[in-house]
Amino acid sequence: MVQRLQKVMATAGIASRRASEKLILEGRVQVNGQVVTELGTKVAGDDIIKVDGQTIEHQEEKVYFLFYKPRGVISAVKDDKGRKVVTDYFTEISQRLYPVGRLDYDTSGLLLMTNDGQLANELMHPRYHVEKSYLAKVKGIPTNEQIKALRAGIKLPDGHKTARAKAKILKIDKKKDFALVSLTIHEGRYHQVKNMFAAIGHPVQKLKRETYGFLTLDGLTAGQFRPLTFAEVKELKKQVRQKSNRILPFT
Ligand code: URA
Repeated sequence: MVQRLQKVMATAGIASRRASEKLILEGRVQVNGQVVTELGTKVAGDDIIKVDGQTIEHQEEKVYFLFYKPRGVISAVKDDKGRKVVTDYFTEISQRLYPVGRLDYDTSGLLLMTNDGQLANELMHPRYHVEKSYLAKVKGIPTNEQIKALRAGIKLPDGHKTARAKAKILKIDKKKDFALVSLTIHEGRYHQVKNMFAAIGHPVQKLKRETYGFLTLDGLTAGQFRPLTFAEVKELKKQVRQKSNRILPFT
């Protein structure tokens, strides 16, 4: 969020807005290493502000959204080819948001968006094992053996053996030759779900992420988002931090 320098200084508790203006006019304030004496100067959350040589804390408010990404949207903040990106849905939000991980262009479903880089990195780190469940429409009808193979872990073309997963056939349509399969994984390798189904010979035709940890898409339709509640953010932080405490000493 971009704000006037004197407002940021006042919010950070440096001095009243009036007194901050005085400090600026006296040449005692620097933004990113440059002395600033203009009262209209605007600063963003990542600008480094110093008063009399001391850096002030002025962190942008952290915001968290649960987004139902539609198909046909890139999980990025911009696209060279001018295609629709996830941040196009958040133009009314002044903070600079980033997606937590990615869903493929043709995958729909639950994507978290935030400006909290630390939590985003923690959630994306394989160490934290956030469970994600997907609904896949696949070509053909997998056998019980193939579903068991998805559960036990299978070798992908890159040589990686997938971790144990949950897999269940929800519907089969013999006439149209497809099945709907629920797959829950806690890894997040590139194209993992598509690669897992390709490996058992049943390529994905349609893919939707239905849950992320304890979060679901309930109440949203494609293209909509809602802020996470305070309790949900607290729980996400608790989960990754608990896991980091437990696992870090051994890695
Ligand atoms: N796995 C995939 O193959 N694609 C996605 O978008 C997410 C998981």
